[in-house]
Amino acid sequence: MVDKINTGESTASPGEAQLPHHHHEIFSASRAGHLDTRLRRILYRPDRLAKRYVKTGNRVLDFGCGPGFFTREFARRVGDTGTVIAVDLQEEMLHILSEKMEREGLMPRIRTHQCSPDAIGLSPELNNTVDVAFAIFVVHEVPNPQKLFREISSLLVPGGLFFYSEPPFIVPGKEFRASLAEAEKAGLTLVEQRCFFVNRAAVLRKVS
Ligand SMILES: C[S@@+](CC[C@H](N)C(=O)[O-])C[C@H]1O[C@@H](n2cnc3c(N)ncnc32)[C@H](O)[C@@H]1O
Repeated sequence: MVDKINTGESTASPGEAQLPHHHHEIFSASRAGHLDTRLRRILYRPDRLAKRYVKTGNRVLDFGCGPGFFTREFARRVGDTGTVIAVDLQEEMLHILSEKMEREGLMPRIRTHQCSPDAIGLSPELNNTVDVAFAIFVVHEVPNPQKLFREISSLLVPGGLFFYSEPPFIVPGKEFRASLAEAEKAGLTLVEQRCFFVNRAAVLRKVS
């Protein structure tokens, strides 16, 4: 499963500390069906996650949204006055998400965005406008998490929340803690560490 240890050389800023980040294979869109199942709904309770962190009218970023398993509940929760920006590297994931959410009547609340491997690349006009950002089971697939955390921090409103989760069998505790330290350097303060079913999870807040 592990394909390489990324030193971040290609995308890190000059002089930036190098995180020993194990860069894993990208979850293929051909297996998207495995991500939106009843079993996952029972295990992860995405409705409860949304209820806990998302409010009506919020602008939410679902980074690495895949086929929309969490996006759906964020969109339900933001209501007609809110928006979910669903970002993924793979066009096919966004296509599956759009078709499904269209059928479920949620697409007016969702904006999709295809990013590149090392940049979210949303318009700078969106900086300081995102109330809550999620990165669920995706950061281990990103080549340069330091850069990702900086981008997420820029997008968040001061005081905005970042929910970050990784599977323990892919991301050992040491690596997760190193990532949290990198997120703190990007201006995000750790406010909660918790389990998300069996997964590691943390909530960080953008420094006001
Ligand atoms: C394991 S799936 C998780 C999807 C979703 N968060 C969920 O839990 O249902 C990881 C997703 O992250 C996306 N991804 C991988 N690398 C990415 C990157 N550099 N930027 C954005 N998305 C990426 C993949 O295309 C895939 O859809």
